[in-house]
Amino acid sequence: MIASKLPNVGTTIFTTMSQLAAQTGALNLSQGFPDFDSPLALREAVARHVMEGHNQYSPMTGLPALREQVAAKLARCYGAQVNPDLEITITPGATEAIFCAVQAVVRPGDEVIVFDPVYDSYEPSVELAGGRCVHVQLTPDTFAIDWDQLTAALSPRTRLIMLNSPHNPSGALISSEDLVRLADLVEQRGLYVISDEVYEHLVYDGARHASVLAHPSLYQRAFVVSSFGKTYHVTGWKTGYVVAPPVLSLELRKIHQYVNFCGVTPLQQGLADYMAAHPEHVDELPGFYQAKRDLFCDLLDRSRFTFTRTPGTYFQLVDYSAIRPDLNDVEMSLWLTREHGVASIPISVFYQVPVEGQRLVRLCFAKREDTLRAAAEKLCAI
Ligand SMILES: Cc1ncc(COP(=O)(O)O)c(C=O)c1O
Repeated sequence: MIASKLPNVGTTIFTTMSQLAAQTGALNLSQGFPDFDSPLALREAVARHVMEGHNQYSPMTGLPALREQVAAKLARCYGAQVNPDLEITITPGATEAIFCAVQAVVRPGDEVIVFDPVYDSYEPSVELAGGRCVHVQLTPDTFAIDWDQLTAALSPRTRLIMLNSPHNPSGALISSEDLVRLADLVEQRGLYVISDEVYEHLVYDGARHASVLAHPSLYQRAFVVSSFGKTYHVTGWKTGYVVAPPVLSLELRKIHQYVNFCGVTPLQQGLADYMAAHPEHVDELPGFYQAKRDLFCDLLDRSRFTFTRTPGTYFQLVDYSAIRPDLNDVEMSLWLTREHGVASIPISVFYQVPVEGQRLVRLCFAKREDTLRAAAEKLCAI
């Protein structure tokens, strides 16, 4: 037997629920991926690059053309002026970016603040760096930062704060005021920030995403992470990027070059072409997903689930207290899949200590209209 370096890590709930959905033939609203395809022009561009022989290693930091497109988008969306050579690194997925950023700053014995419910890759990344996560709960109703709890959780060992907005699984958005407050804290205490903004373009009802990139002082101590997978409906391409000031990017790249060295070349080529030809794609994304959210929520209004329409991401939390208050959320997700043919994700798995009495499951609405209608019909029949 080998002594595990990650003794608490097992099969993730996403694998478990997707497998159960496949076995039972349930509609899979659990794992967060679209059941529709990415734009044809994007797929054609990648295919063209494969056929034209662009199949060898890209530069370690990512294809210059793609880094330039990302810089142009950041200037347009957030007014951020970043140097694509020194501050943008393309990675095989946001997950690798987060892992490398954690390794770049966390030393043995350091503490890292994470907010529960927390995305599942953060803690193993911190543990492998020899650090320890200190879990601070977001407020149970609105999933906002509880500043008193956050301040109380800080110690002289705190090194890093990990943010995620728009937030998986709740959809909650950090405000610009939160970022101003955070910038003070980070500066006073000499902390670093990893801002996971993979759902940056999925914000609804006219809201604007508050990016760390729009706060120059906070950005000086931050790694901002995003994912082409979420933005271009290509989660299986595992291509993302990280933006950080030159000194931080330098350290991150030292790690990235030995974790994976570089991302997949033709995917980067195709994304660069598509971004150049279709800058409007990111502007149209909120409307595209808001229509899906509203269709799904309008249909679910007739069910016994209760919910507030999600302000961001492609996840909708629903409260099932009126249906099976006797079941905890893991039991509820299993019951929904087996008995009613809809797979969901219980949110207690994102907590160190689940919230007593919380009765919420997460449904992914990044699905075709027929899938959403079929799922809603099953959920309304319960
Ligand atoms: C909050 C969050 N961060 C990071 C990721 C990982 O993104 P990628 O697939 O680009 O590694 C996901 C994917 O579900 C996510 O929800």
